[in-house]
Amino acid sequence: MKVSTNIIISTLVFLVVFTVMIALPYKSMSAVALPNFDEDQDERSDVYNPLRSGRITDGSLVYESNGCATCHTQVIRPTNAGADMWRNNWAGMANDEDRGDTRRETHSFDYLGQARANIGLMRVGPDLSNIGLRVATYIQDTDLTPEMYLYLQLYNARAKVGAEQSNCPSNPYLFDKIKRYGATPKDALPIKDQEFIFVPNEKAQALVSYLLSLKKDDVAPAAIQ
Ligand code: HEC
Repeated sequence: MKVSTNIIISTLVFLVVFTVMIALPYKSMSAVALPNFDEDQDERSDVYNPLRSGRITDGSLVYESNGCATCHTQVIRPTNAGADMWRNNWAGMANDEDRGDTRRETHSFDYLGQARANIGLMRVGPDLSNIGLRVATYIQDTDLTPEMYLYLQLYNARAKVGAEQSNCPSNPYLFDKIKRYGATPKDALPIKDQEFIFVPNEKAQALVSYLLSLKKDDVAPAAIQ
């Protein structure tokens, strides 16, 4: 008698946990439809379609295969679960020159077009949901392009001023080491080496295209903004 009560209770607990933790989230996330703009609120009625194609998709695979998501999240949490909206340039821009406050939380459609949603495992490094926009603020007083800033980050994060203790791993295998002949090509890293130059390979280029596509300033339907 006692045994069968235990079995019934455990089965019920399993069913409740399964429904709440797996079945319901799966149902709501498995067929994410792209949201529509609303004529009244947005003055347009097409489908919202975040840019994801070609090199950006390839770059998300490089991101996955290099374990970036072990230390970097891509989730601006709802405010009841954390204060991400107010962290400096994490959720968009508080004062965008043209559009004012563009900050917003992450929605399931932010991951559309990616083989896996790079939600992230831990936050050892900063959230990267908005890194494409944030880089623009980092390069303001330098002569680096956004791409070159990120190549340097990937080649050796500790070379950044103030990041001498950075735990962001170096990825030298994303760069071709070529014997130096004559003038330095434009895409070579601006690092001093008499003998060699270091040029981003295809994987590095795809990864950086992907990182620069991570922005939270696109015009999304007002209903989800
Ligand atoms: C072991 C944990 C770890 C892993 C794995 C890791 N990072 Fe980092 N990352 C960090 C830390 C810590 C920082 C903050 C220090 C710094 O700016 O370098 C950081 C900073 C960054 C930044 C600068 C963010 C900002 O706003 O300043 C970028 C971009 C970045 N990482 C990209 C990557 C990419 C791409 C990968 C995968 C190839 C990766 N990281 C893997 C820990 C990690």
